[in-house]
Amino acid sequence: MSVAISSFPEPSFPPPAAAFAPAAPVFQPAAPGPLLGASPAMQEVFRLIERVGPTEASVLLTGESGSGKELAAQSIHDRSQRRGRPFIAVNCGAIPAGLIEAELFGSEKGGSAGAVRGHTGVFERANGGTLLLNEVTEMPADMQTRLLRVLESRKFYRRVGADIEHSTDVRVIAATNRCPLQAVSSGRLREDLLYRLAVFPIALPPLRSRGRDVELLAEHFLVQLNAQSGTQKRFTPLARMTLRQHTWPGNVRELKNCVERAFILADQALELAPLIQDTGPPTEGAQPDRLEIRIGARIYDMERSLIEATLDHFQGNKRRAADALGCSLKTLYNKLNGYSQRECASS
Ligand SMILES: Nc1ncnc2c1ncn2[C@@H]1O[C@H](COP(=O)(O)OP(=O)(O)OP(=O)(O)O)[C@@H](O)[C@H]1O
Ligand SMILES: [Mg+2]
Repeated sequence: MSVAISSFPEPSFPPPAAAFAPAAPVFQPAAPGPLLGASPAMQEVFRLIERVGPTEASVLLTGESGSGKELAAQSIHDRSQRRGRPFIAVNCGAIPAGLIEAELFGSEKGGSAGAVRGHTGVFERANGGTLLLNEVTEMPADMQTRLLRVLESRKFYRRVGADIEHSTDVRVIAATNRCPLQAVSSGRLREDLLYRLAVFPIALPPLRSRGRDVELLAEHFLVQLNAQSGTQKRFTPLARMTLRQHTWPGNVRELKNCVERAFILADQALELAPLIQDTGPPTEGAQPDRLEIRIGARIYDMERSLIEATLDHFQGNKRRAADALGCSLKTLYNKLNGYSQRECASS
């Protein structure tokens, strides 16, 4: 089965506009398996995983590094008849060209490297289960040809020229950080292999387009860490603001690592800002992202300063300011009206 190239979805770099999800209750797993997310963008991913999981279709997962492709592959496997059988992930980009053939298909005793024992490749080890081919576009061209032949025939030889043919019953899921169509046009990926792998493509959205999922995930990681160490650490209000404002170019992996580092460093209250080196280029005209508040300041003044500084930060964009402040747009308007009425009354 193959798909027409016109039906292949455009890569989502930059992300699809399912961005800025409505507020999700904190820590509400709404996903298959351990993949979490409440944003519309992730709900769509879960819908696709639920549909394709129980089938035998090859899946191509695309998405930036750290966006959850491996976890998505595991979720697909867990939803298939193959769960309970092996799930094996192999990183095609990390294996030297000379070794990839043996890694995938194994080698016979006395094979190319004069091995004393035969080597079992991942196609044999994953038999009956699922094989995730990470960074599939980094596979050498001749290996891509061989892989295509194996996927079509479900048979392989442990090495070129060997005469024992092995059968394989493996569901293949492939993943790449690259745009697959660009990989084809630049000659990195065979077009026929793309069609064979991308019977069912799924694009993982970058974390920055998942709205409140950032907080949901951060809270989830913190709950896990607290449970492991019997602590009750929590995020400071500033850390929550950092969660919302950072663009997380390393996606969920960066978020997870950052929460873990902050957890180790904190006695009780986790700060994130000092751990984030690159917060991306500042928006033109953006204001500094800190506010100094005098101890003993009136709550009214403190809230007003925070709201006004946040509005300045987002250059007057009330929707984004309300999102960052964690209040509805209506509440923000009411507060601002209150301030101006108070000013009118006192002038
Ligand atoms: N939606 C999610 N819910 C919970 N944890 C997640 C989610 N997405 C990713 N993670 C976690 O983030 C980390 C990175 O995820 P994963 O390895 O699946 O990303 P990837 O897209 O395969 O990255 P790469 O392209 O670098 O291989 C893992 O620790 C994973 O458990
Ligand atoms: Mg991966």
